Amino acid sequence: MLKIAHRGARGYEPENSLRAFQKAIEMKADGIELDVHLSSDGHLIVIHDETIDRTTNGKGFVNTLSLQQLKEFRIENKLQIPTLPEVFDLVNQQCFINIELKGQGTADAVAALIELYVTENNWNYDSFIVSSFEWDFLQRINNLNSEIPIGVLTETDIASAITFAKQIKAKAIHPDFNLLNKENTIQIQEKGFQVFPWTVNETADIARVKTYNVNGIISDFTDRI
Ligand code: G3P
Ligand code: CA
Repeated sequence: MLKIAHRGARGYEPENSLRAFQKAIEMKADGIELDVHLSSDGHLIVIHDETIDRTTNGKGFVNTLSLQQLKEFRIENKLQIPTLPEVFDLVNQQCFINIELKGQGTADAVAALIELYVTENNWNYDSFIVSSFEWDFLQRINNLNSEIPIGVLTETDIASAITFAKQIKAKAIHPDFNLLNKENTIQIQEKGFQVFPWTVNETADIARVKTYNVNGIISDFTDRI
């Protein structure tokens, strides 16, 4: 059962920071999960919200700020907001990277960056899985490069996620863990998809989800898995 560190080791370090990803690697996570938006000048920025207000000392929408402007702000007064290439270079194939597409335009940029690391840096496509609640972004990824592994995120409906996963030959379905039970987990797996529920943090929930034999768990606390 794979342990996937949600926004990095979010239980221990500031979410989506290089420190959080480093900590996840030290905690022997099999994968890290992170979120991406585009800056105004087209760089892939690793941040959950569409604004920098909650997680940094700045204010404003990510897609209205340039990379240089974004780098001036600090997470918890000390850390910079990372770019996706900075995270790739830190991870350096020590674990896989689950990239969640949040912002408009991220599908094209992420597909291009993955292709670059596969062709120029000898990374494997299995070092990545791209997920999103915006299924049109996943369709776009699949149209651009069908070798990129895809995880279909859902917080509402497993049946529709299965239908869409078949359409784009996804690798996995990433459901809100509250939607899951043993029966629908088996149902998803029998269709050929892995199951990676999120965000499972409480020990009792982790124990319950483990009895479903899911393929992996996305958690702020991978050490509890
Ligand atoms: O990838 C699963 C999970 O990260 C989705 O929710 O809001 O934490 O991005 P959120
Ligand atoms: Ca996420």
